[in-house]
Amino acid sequence: MKGIVLAGGHGTRLHPITLGTSKQLLPVYDKPMIYYPISVLMLAGITDILIISAPQYVESFRRLLGDGSALGVRFGYVAQDEPRGLADAFVLGAGHIGDDAVALVLGDNVFHGPGFGRMVRAAVRGLDGCVLFGYPVSDPERYGVVEVDAEGNPVGLTEKPAEPRSNIAVTGLYFYDNEVVDIAARLTPSRRGELEITDVNRHYLDRGRCRLVPLGRGFAWLDTGTHDALINASQYVQTLEHRQGVRIACLEEIAWRMGFIDREACYRLGHELSHSSYGRYIMAVAA
Ligand code: DAU
Repeated sequence: MKGIVLAGGHGTRLHPITLGTSKQLLPVYDKPMIYYPISVLMLAGITDILIISAPQYVESFRRLLGDGSALGVRFGYVAQDEPRGLADAFVLGAGHIGDDAVALVLGDNVFHGPGFGRMVRAAVRGLDGCVLFGYPVSDPERYGVVEVDAEGNPVGLTEKPAEPRSNIAVTGLYFYDNEVVDIAARLTPSRRGELEITDVNRHYLDRGRCRLVPLGRGFAWLDTGTHDALINASQYVQTLEHRQGVRIACLEEIAWRMGFIDREACYRLGHELSHSSYGRYIMAVAA
């Protein structure tokens, strides 16, 4: 399976912070925001990852992440000149996806919860059509919303409904079979002028090929879209990391635990960053 991180957009809700840089390069506590979605793909076992960003930041992402070989993965880069919608990822990423299945994760989404690695690996293994993740929120009108039947199966999907029919938001992590490339190529822009991921998902739902995995209580799906949400996400990560002495979305540690690199290589990556507590953490876990 291939992976795509969509990290474009104008970040206008975070102005003036994002006048000079990409939103997804901003810190969430001790690491750049994009580490969090990348960690999700790596936990799913995905090693071939395309990063899509606004043209002026492609080189910044490349400087940060390189070609991925140090982590035993492969990072490729593509520019999205205008934010044409989330489903544009499958148009821009068609060459990268080839004949494979694909996981898309939004570059500003932070997921954290017990058993998440197992959950995403199960989504990859059992993929037939598409897999979405549902998360109860108090403000569903801001998201894609999924309606479910008594058994929890998805029965309706609406993008930012004025009157939501459930409180379950569709999160920014999506798994698809290869048909998504054709579906996205045939999409027409919505009234707000975007290629909507919700239209893609409805295509699968209408054919009975959309599975919803609930992320329950105690799971964190954090927003980073406003000044307050951004600092709240940082504080959440700081609180957990200090309390438990572990790091969330530490790519070097995940690369080692997933078997992409060996312990010595992991330790060396930590050593290169040993002036920071992040680097010293890596050295300690790989010691
Ligand atoms: O976060 C989950 C939600 O993401 C879903 O519930 C919605 O169904 C989905 O439409 C999307 O809603 P948003 O309103 O959050 O989408 P937004 O336009 O803010 O884009 C999400 C991120 O993707 C944002 O960081 C910018 C980036 N992006 C967005 C577009 C439209 C791109 O990189 N390229 C794009 O063309």
